[in-house]
Amino acid sequence: GPIQQHLDDLQSFQVIAHRGASGHAPEATWPAFEQAVEMEADYLEMDVQMTADGELVVFHDETIDRTTDGEGDLKDYTLEELKALDAGSWFNDEFPDYADDEYAGNEILTLDEVIERFGTDERYYLEIKSPELYSDLEESLVEALEDHGLVESGSVIIQSFSDESLKTVHELNADIPLVQLVWYYPEEEGDDELVEWTGVTPGPEETTDEDFQAIREYAVGVGTNLTYGEEELQVIDADFVEQAQANDLLVHVYTINEEEGMQRLLDWGVDGIFTNFPDRLNALVE
Ligand code: G3P
Ligand code: CA
Repeated sequence: GPIQQHLDDLQSFQVIAHRGASGHAPEATWPAFEQAVEMEADYLEMDVQMTADGELVVFHDETIDRTTDGEGDLKDYTLEELKALDAGSWFNDEFPDYADDEYAGNEILTLDEVIERFGTDERYYLEIKSPELYSDLEESLVEALEDHGLVESGSVIIQSFSDESLKTVHELNADIPLVQLVWYYPEEEGDDELVEWTGVTPGPEETTDEDFQAIREYAVGVGTNLTYGEEELQVIDADFVEQAQANDLLVHVYTINEEEGMQRLLDWGVDGIFTNFPDRLNALVE
């Protein structure tokens, strides 16, 4: 059926449009998602959070300051208040080379709006962001996906840095493929010892088969960074990819916008890449 088809498709390389085609248009707005579809991304990636009145919205930061004309914590605002904000103009100011008058005034989107618009024509790669800030976000999310038929149609992956949140989802509905996000970074600036963000694995060098197997109990893959910081210190290597895959885990890597990094990862045989430029990645894959 469609759920198995989804898992089969995941065995080939996946182009994941990070917050939509967010290199070309303001992240997580209609133009970003529409352009990702036009560029034939395999997934629309988006972060899910909850409004003060319990609505699921697609938004990355915990605060609305960077990408809207408002300020403060997203969780303190109702959907109606958030809908009144301009979530597009900041992009034109920040990225004049990519600016477009049509981006100004775009709204924050609800998860429902996005999945009603694209239905089962697209696949969604939904991140549970900051689950500790919201009560029962997992329940609301799984219910919304079930109501829209997206679980049975094999249209969705859920990702999170929180293993707890993923395990909650897995208990609610074991048919949803899950990806455990990790973020590797140096223990101290200038130190090459690497530690890990969530505590799920001890660091790319030290990760054992047992660590990967513990993730495999609930997830189909890991989502990891490739580099750290401005200096782009490389934090994973081909061996890490090979070991994860040998433990039957997919390896998806975020967020790669330059061809050099994309090519390095393709050479290592990763299973997917998150990018703000799905057109650039597709051109390289073809
Ligand atoms: O979901 C992969 C990647 O998006 C995680 O980082 O901060 O862009 O959500 P972030
Ligand atoms: Ca994300």
